[in-house]
Amino acid sequence: MRCDRSLAVAGLLAVLALAAAGSAEAAACCNFTLPASLPYPTDKFEPSIDNMTMNLHFFKHANAFVTNLNTALATCPELFGRSLYTLNTQVGNTRACSPLEATITSRLIGLVIRAGRCPIIPPKCWLQVRNAAGGFWNHGLFFLHNLAPFGSQKYERDASPALKQAIWQVWGSEAKFREAFSAAAAGVFGSGWTWLSYDPRTKKLKIQTTPNQDNPLQALPGTQQGFPILGLDKYYNVRASYIAAFYDVINWKGVSAAFAKAKAGTFSSLDVLKPAANWQASG
Ligand SMILES: *[C@@H]1O[C@H](CO)[C@@H](O)[C@H](O)[C@H]1NC(C)=O
Ligand SMILES: *[C@@H]1O[C@H](CO)[C@@H](O)[C@H](O)[C@H]1NC(C)=O
Ligand SMILES: [Fe+2]
Repeated sequence: MRCDRSLAVAGLLAVLALAAAGSAEAAACCNFTLPASLPYPTDKFEPSIDNMTMNLHFFKHANAFVTNLNTALATCPELFGRSLYTLNTQVGNTRACSPLEATITSRLIGLVIRAGRCPIIPPKCWLQVRNAAGGFWNHGLFFLHNLAPFGSQKYERDASPALKQAIWQVWGSEAKFREAFSAAAAGVFGSGWTWLSYDPRTKKLKIQTTPNQDNPLQALPGTQQGFPILGLDKYYNVRASYIAAFYDVINWKGVSAAFAKAKAGTFSSLDVLKPAANWQASG
């Protein structure tokens, strides 16, 4: 995992620091970092998404989530070393706790995740982790697995037979899927994401929406758990034409690869901070 290398580096830094200053204070383990580059030219998404929007949202907006997440980890160092995926799933997970602790905790985070239980993420950093781990994961999936330059991929040619079959099973056609996805996206009030997710219980695809930077991995009250394989950020633009233009910049190969993992029960191995396999093969 990406943490191992950081651990090794942190260890080396700690040794150097000890040698140099005699200080026992080790560098914090495992801060997250934003991938340094995108695997495609960012000016090849027009007219769907302009060059400035591409750059702003990845290198500024997504980077803010990384910084916020690292700040949250500094507040709750017991979370260091957990993968971005694990942090997301733990936002909605609970552990046994006393009724008193459950009451206090739900007040602190402003939400009852599950009656009589406490969230696995400590309340002092829960909101920060929810927003920052969510925002970071969502942008990783979007930029590195969901997007491909304008017109470079075609659903018929590039989506896997398994994905096409699953979409056909629920919506009957790609056109009907688009209609349903667009309607859901247009219905997102304020900021939030629209998702195409795989539901492990029904073994079917579904469309979900979540507010702000939440996602279906977090499975918070009001959102069923799902493995999101395609997401659309409402933040970019509220115009219906933007939603319609989204279908011209979808990396169907990346979405198909994510779908294969979701279906196989290995979705936790999808590293949204590394470009999808089709980018690695070509580049
Ligand atoms: C796209 O934006 C990047 C980053 O701001 C810039 O370096 C690049 O020159 C831009 N490309 C075009 C064609 O404007
Ligand atoms: C980790 O990130 C936090 C928050 O940005 C920062 O204060 C801290 O110095 C970073 N630690 C390391 C070892 O880079
Ligand atoms: Fe964004």
